[in-house]
Amino acid sequence: MVLKLAANGIETSDDWIVERTGIRARHFADDGVLCSDLAVEAARKALESAGRQASEIDLIIVATSTPDMVFPSTACILQNKLGAAGGAAFDVQAVCCGFVYALSIADAMIQTGAATRALIVGAEVFSHILDFTDRTTCVLFGDGAGAVVLEASETPGILASDLHADGKHVGILCVPGHVNGGKITGDPLLKMDGQAVFKLAVGVLEDAARSALAKANLTDADIDWLIPHQANIRIMQSTARKLKLSMDKVVVTVDQHGNTSAASIPLALDSAVRSGQVKPGQTLLLEGVGGGFTWGAVLLKL
Ligand code: UT7
Repeated sequence: MVLKLAANGIETSDDWIVERTGIRARHFADDGVLCSDLAVEAARKALESAGRQASEIDLIIVATSTPDMVFPSTACILQNKLGAAGGAAFDVQAVCCGFVYALSIADAMIQTGAATRALIVGAEVFSHILDFTDRTTCVLFGDGAGAVVLEASETPGILASDLHADGKHVGILCVPGHVNGGKITGDPLLKMDGQAVFKLAVGVLEDAARSALAKANLTDADIDWLIPHQANIRIMQSTARKLKLSMDKVVVTVDQHGNTSAASIPLALDSAVRSGQVKPGQTLLLEGVGGGFTWGAVLLKL
């Protein structure tokens, strides 16, 4: 992996990026490295931490907007790389909210008995879809992957989830191109109206948090840790303020990897668990927001 502090050849500065976003470093996959390559590394580490073999997994969901291929899903490619054939495998496309969507879907499938043990991965190679001449986007996004294992238990881990979308905002964050007749029709690079996304994000993240808390009969005071999508420190600070949470209760890793879309929440969760910041028994609120427009929250007890 190559670490790059800022894109070259455009008018920008570390000071602007740090002040406006909180991002200090990003990671870009080497040439030829695809989404499933990052996903398989994260998946192996998650399985090891959970003390599980790939053969024990009967559901794989990969949250990604940068899949290896148009089809089949990156989840199927990952399943093959892990040698875990047989269970269900599919991708979830909810952009930066993808991990929250995937976790919620896996929980529902486990609760209905459709699956018993799930591997949920958020993996992205956003460097493949960045326009490196557009300073309003190319300094923000990075590549990465994170994963968790979720399994059936008598004690519920996921307490509530709350998912939403509003398709009228498709244009404010999108990669408009598509494959047609062997060619790419339309622009295959990321476009974002940052201010519009920012304004929508701060509103919907508070709503999703309140809704998930209400479903679980909990209040702001019950949250031990907020683990939001890592896009911009100012969005996280605003959400924390609205939920009356001190920033000491917010897991922040955006400085270390920038906006990695569907990978950002599992990366932040992994960092917080491995460092001992979050502990078993604590209540976590995971929140995502992204293109679509999509947003949602998952409230869980670790
Ligand atoms: O992951 C999905 C969710 N995505 C997000 O949550 C992103 C949400 N949006 C944001 O995080 C912020 O809107 C940005 C970080 C994208 C932009 O921050 P901002 O404070 O909203 O900046 P702005 O768009 O209002 O631009 C302020 C100024 C402009 O210059 P003028 O018009 O004031 O002269 C921009 O041209 O900053 C300029 N600018 C830059 N300057 C240096 C924009 N990008 C850059 C840059 N370097 N990279």
